[in-house]
Amino acid sequence: MKLTLPELRRDTPLVMVTAYDFPGAQQAERAGMDLILVGDSLGNVVLGYDSTAPVTLSDIIHHTRAVRRGAPDTFLVADLPFGTYHTGVQDAMRAAVRVIQDSGADAVKVEGASPEVLEVITVLTRNGIPVMGHVGLTPQTEVSLGGRKVQGRDEAGAQRILEDAQAVERAGAFAVVLEVIPARLARVITERLSIPTIGIGAGPYCSGQVLVYHDVLGLSDHEKKIARRYAELGQLATEALRAYAEDVRGRTFPAKENSFIIKDEVLDKLY
Ligand code: KIV
Repeated sequence: MKLTLPELRRDTPLVMVTAYDFPGAQQAERAGMDLILVGDSLGNVVLGYDSTAPVTLSDIIHHTRAVRRGAPDTFLVADLPFGTYHTGVQDAMRAAVRVIQDSGADAVKVEGASPEVLEVITVLTRNGIPVMGHVGLTPQTEVSLGGRKVQGRDEAGAQRILEDAQAVERAGAFAVVLEVIPARLARVITERLSIPTIGIGAGPYCSGQVLVYHDVLGLSDHEKKIARRYAELGQLATEALRAYAEDVRGRTFPAKENSFIIKDEVLDKLY
């Protein structure tokens, strides 16, 4: 059964994984995920971009619809893409309403804690749209953070991330993702917040964890320190496709059992 917002506030480890399509969503739901995220990591892991910036609202809606069909009973969060909530609260509201209405997501996620983003969180939640926050390493603004590196290692940086997470909670977010920050900073933040913290590269002390589907299943090219690979499906897929190509070239596929029959008298009548 799909968890409700009050249940998501419980003090038990929440497990979230990303999904981008129907089969991935089915697998995630069958595996008992508490939450599924249609992240804008879609850009990197599925669409082949080198960042999340090119992902559009239509991309997110298209993929979230497929995920919703595959996981009708799992709490579903969809990322608001870069640029869709940075041009004022009205635009943000319009984008979020489109995502909720057109894709069937239960909530949206936004990155950062600038005054503008905090206002967006406030307005969306006041109008009944649940919002998940995201602080620390925020991929949509990775370039201005100096690239994909650990955030909050020095005093000023750690203080800023703590304050960002607190501000996101005050603005009304129901949970917050902490990405690529030191484990003990994540622990302090988790202790000081009453909403769940969902870590990725944030150590073991968060209220929950999120990983990218492709990283869990070994479908991404590189080992990532922040993830654990539970299978090597990418390698398996390449081997399977190679075997298929060999069978076609060696004329062992299709075989008799893959073929349909026709009666002689039908064939004999052909001219
Ligand atoms: O887009 C995404 O997949 C994310 C997770 C890494 C939290 O934002």
